[in-house]
Amino acid sequence: MIFITGGAGFIGSNFVHQWLASTDEPLAVLDKLTYAGNLENLDSVRMDARFSFAQLDICDRLRVGQLLAEHCPRAIVHFAAESHVDRSIQGPSEFIRTNVNGTFELLEAARAYVAALKGVERENFRFLHVSTDEVYGSLSATDNAFSESNAYAPNSPYAASKAASDHLVRAYARTYALPTITTNCSNNYGPYQFPEKLIPLMLLNALDEKPLPVYGDGAHVRDWLYVLDHCEALRLILERGRIGETYCIGGRAEKANLDVVRALCAVLDDMRPRASGRYAELIEFVSDRPGHDRRYAVSPAKLEQELGWRQRATFDVGIRETVRWFLEHEAWARRAGSEKDGRWFERQYATR
Ligand code: NAD
Ligand code: DAU
Repeated sequence: MIFITGGAGFIGSNFVHQWLASTDEPLAVLDKLTYAGNLENLDSVRMDARFSFAQLDICDRLRVGQLLAEHCPRAIVHFAAESHVDRSIQGPSEFIRTNVNGTFELLEAARAYVAALKGVERENFRFLHVSTDEVYGSLSATDNAFSESNAYAPNSPYAASKAASDHLVRAYARTYALPTITTNCSNNYGPYQFPEKLIPLMLLNALDEKPLPVYGDGAHVRDWLYVLDHCEALRLILERGRIGETYCIGGRAEKANLDVVRALCAVLDDMRPRASGRYAELIEFVSDRPGHDRRYAVSPAKLEQELGWRQRATFDVGIRETVRWFLEHEAWARRAGSEKDGRWFERQYATR
């Protein structure tokens, strides 16, 4: 079986759904259930005999170690993190606690667990660390896309905390021969994304006829990947990736934020037209994010060449799927956005 941290969040829950739909192998999810973690994301699999869940903080090394000994997983897939850049600007300490200290505690628990394994179980064990392209910093308009050989240059507290966690993972591979693999992925979008992130936030604001707050001039570029394509890449890397390596995962879908918001508005105009006018009329430019990275682009060439990965969803297909999903799960999105930390939106947007 495999062990998933952060499996009640956006990417983790998509990974769990995809895993259980495509293999018989059981999995255990460990999640602290912060404001971003939502057991409702796992409702459809909770009765599945192959699924188990524990509410637990990755910083709790002792209990994590006990869970590992109890479940005897052949792999840990580590998603758990504080993941929102704007929150890391307003309050970085939770990012250091979970992303840096938490990853350290998890690595220590994994090291002790692996040391007790023997023979083929020890040989087959993997620690897959799910990280971000933001560790590489920002590109100019003419730079080549990020690849595995880029130097780290994180610009937000979130990116710095993920970079620190990547360095710890690397050090555990080199020093203790922990069989780790790290992935650095671009911006995900799709079902279950928490509505503080660009696409679901704009979608819900549009449905509420609220302004669509584009930071700065809206020309910042992100590389978008449909979440299930990311999950497929992770499964492939878990099975066939090389120990000690890092793999960049990207969608070859660079888009300026303003174009993303306009594309989303056009899909909404089609699927749920406004009473009068078009959704793009709600776009407003607001003050920029401090330290806002201008451009990300990620080359998945190594993953494509070594492991034969190909993304399935183009941005046009993925964005339609995403809008359709949110329209069908509007109640979920509204609950997720308000229940645990409804004040966030006021703190973040009232004075912009
Ligand atoms: P998310 O914020 O939606 O989910 C994070 C999950 O981790 C939540 O379920 C939360 O409850 C859990 N968690 C947080 N702190 C914890 C702790 N101390 N102990 C146990 N669980 C804890 O995040 P996401 O967007 O699903 O991202 C998952 C991972 O993928 C993160 O490591 C992130 O850095 C990385 N990543 C995200 C993206 C993206 O576009 N969202 C892109 C590349 C990489
Ligand atoms: O690149 C991978 C990263 O992508 C992940 O590591 C992070 O966990 C994930 O949150 C995401 O980070 P971003 O900062 O790129 O995502 P976000 O959705 O917050 O913002 C996307 C872009 O949209 C960014 O340039 C900021 C802009 N933006 C965002 C919000 C929330 C706006 O213009 N207005 C907004 O209200």
